[in-house]
Amino acid sequence: MIKDSVAIQRAEVEDAEVLTETCKSAFDSDSEFGAPRPGGPPGYESLEWNIEKIKNRYLHYYKILNEEEIIGGFIVGDRGPNYQVCERIWINPSQMRKGMGTRTFHLIWEKYPLADLWVLGTPEWNTRTNPFYQSIGFVQIGKTHEYSWDGIYYEKKITEGFPIAMSRIEDIKDRQQRVIVEGRVENIAGPRAVSSRKTGEELKVADITLSDDTGSIKLVLWNKQIPQVKVDSSIRIEEGYVKTYRDELQMSVGQWGMIITLV
Ligand SMILES: CC(C)(COP(=O)(O)OP(=O)(O)OC[C@H]1O[C@@H](n2cnc3c(N)ncnc32)[C@H](O)[C@@H]1OP(=O)(O)O)[C@@H](O)C(=O)NCCC(=O)NCCS
Repeated sequence: MIKDSVAIQRAEVEDAEVLTETCKSAFDSDSEFGAPRPGGPPGYESLEWNIEKIKNRYLHYYKILNEEEIIGGFIVGDRGPNYQVCERIWINPSQMRKGMGTRTFHLIWEKYPLADLWVLGTPEWNTRTNPFYQSIGFVQIGKTHEYSWDGIYYEKKITEGFPIAMSRIEDIKDRQQRVIVEGRVENIAGPRAVSSRKTGEELKVADITLSDDTGSIKLVLWNKQIPQVKVDSSIRIEEGYVKTYRDELQMSVGQWGMIITLV
């Protein structure tokens, strides 16, 4: 019964205070579910962070309501109409384990009828989120290593078949943006040091040969991205972008991009 009273609406700046409070309480309770230290994800207790995210046009920030009271939040990271990311979900501890999180996901899926793939990452240590996501049909596809924690990367396919939002390597075109692609790391050349033309700062760069059944492409990785890939591993890239350099297509991973080691 209670679950039918759950609703989601786009958050507004005036909701930020309650959203921040519920977010802080929800993530602080991670200490009982494997968190190695107190805390939460970036900005989880910051009013300014939440206001900025509510205003951010690349994110869709929802408030979760039960009987018109805000009981949590959900942030969607939009990677295009067919591929959506659950950046964050939380439910106020007093309302947890009553099916609210599950109901919220169903409402979110209804809001994005074109999304045929949903993805998210969660810390490996989290003994609450891992069973939660699995209970609603998410399946582990990989691991991420870019944060201070090792992440499990999950996806949920809404429709079967090759995902609409993903590219095969032979179909990747010059100037393509927001590329989502999977491939095997055949070779890593580098890293080598270069100086930034703008700041003179020393940067590291490596050229990766990424292949699938249809072809190969050069993937250029920088600094912290480089140790995330190993020869012979299979990876998924999100938010890749492509340009031609000396007659060769090359892909880089954007600021908001992800490198996922597939398992
Ligand atoms: C993860 C979270 C959103 C789940 O919301 P919820 O409303 O409590 O979840 P539900 O009641 O819909 O749970 C559905 C299922 O998930 C699993 N689950 C939920 N909480 C669990 C827990 N504490 N331990 C083990 N399994 C759990 C169970 O299988 C549960 O089904 P059941 O209650 O019939 O056994 C909530 O616990 C939360 O806000 N956590 C803190 C913030 C966080 O880590 N967010 C996710 C990362 S961005």
